[in-house]
Amino acid sequence: MFRVTMKEDLNDQDYYLEVEAPHVTKHWKPGQFVIIMTHEKGERVPLSVATINGGRVGMFIKKLGKTSVELYREFRVGSSLYAVSGPLGKPLKLEDYGTVVLASDAVCGHAEQLGLAQELAKLGNKVISIQTFKTEKEVYPEKYLTTKYADEHYITTLDGTAGYKGHYIDLLRELVARREVKAVFAGGALASLKKLAEATAGLDAKVYALVRTIMVDGTGMCGSCRVRYNGVIAYACRDGPWFDARLVDWDDVLRRDARFKKIEKIALEKYLAR
Ligand SMILES: Cc1cc2nc3c(=O)[nH]c(=O)nc-3n(C[C@H](O)[C@H](O)[C@H](O)COP(=O)(O)OP(=O)(O)OC[C@H]3O[C@@H](n4cnc5c(N)ncnc54)[C@H](O)[C@@H]3O)c2cc1C
Ligand code: FES
Repeated sequence: MFRVTMKEDLNDQDYYLEVEAPHVTKHWKPGQFVIIMTHEKGERVPLSVATINGGRVGMFIKKLGKTSVELYREFRVGSSLYAVSGPLGKPLKLEDYGTVVLASDAVCGHAEQLGLAQELAKLGNKVISIQTFKTEKEVYPEKYLTTKYADEHYITTLDGTAGYKGHYIDLLRELVARREVKAVFAGGALASLKKLAEATAGLDAKVYALVRTIMVDGTGMCGSCRVRYNGVIAYACRDGPWFDARLVDWDDVLRRDARFKKIEKIALEKYLAR
């Protein structure tokens, strides 16, 4: 059993959850993720690793559907999760690129930034971090932002209530016009990542994206997380979840992500009506 050691609101929709999982912390590398289960018959939920504190793994979670809401409502410090599997996925092969931009607009991107910023700085990179939120009220508490790990840190909000007004793609366009950026690592909404691939089509830099597909087993066996990548089929859980953004078939990724929307809506409604 995997004991919850900390739970904290990040804003109205997102929360931080820390659990004991020393088997993960011993082996985890940036780029890898975990799959949690609340109960023996619960669904398997892939989550990025935001923090590692001794034998404890911290995650940022959005209250989106049945399991993320159930986890928020019914689990508290001292409760135990049924399973925390991992680390899963392929670790990123990081190097000293020069100037690197980290960008995110949703929980799984903000989480990944923390580990990436520390590792890239250790390798000698100049790290520029951009974190996009809808509005000032949604900006995470300072200790969960990438601020202290990056050489430059920018908040952007879509409504302009804090920091730069716009999305990280808008700010990235401005940055690459006047700076020599050699690598970009971006997470967030799938539609944003498609736009990022288009916006960086002619950029002389590596552009990696966290491809958040629907996963089941997380080990390359079930085929659920299939991604059309550079003309072949890849599996996000085994070959990713980070891929060269410009080689991903984003229309296919977006289509596959919508597969279970109706069932997911019903599952949440049933849970809330209990
Ligand atoms: C590598 C990876 C890292 C992720 N990191 C985070 C993270 O750090 N924080 C976070 O909040 N979310 C993260 N996600 C997404 C998270 O797994 C889903 O939001 C979660 O499964 C939703 O479950 P639910 O029951 O609450 O909602 P549901 O109603 O079941 O689903 C809501 C939406 O979540 C996505 N989703 C649902 N089931 C899965 C699944 N089995 N695998 C992947 N996506 C799914 C779909 O887009 C779906 O429409 C990550 C996904 C992947 C693949
Ligand atoms: S989740 Fe089953 S193959 Fe990737």
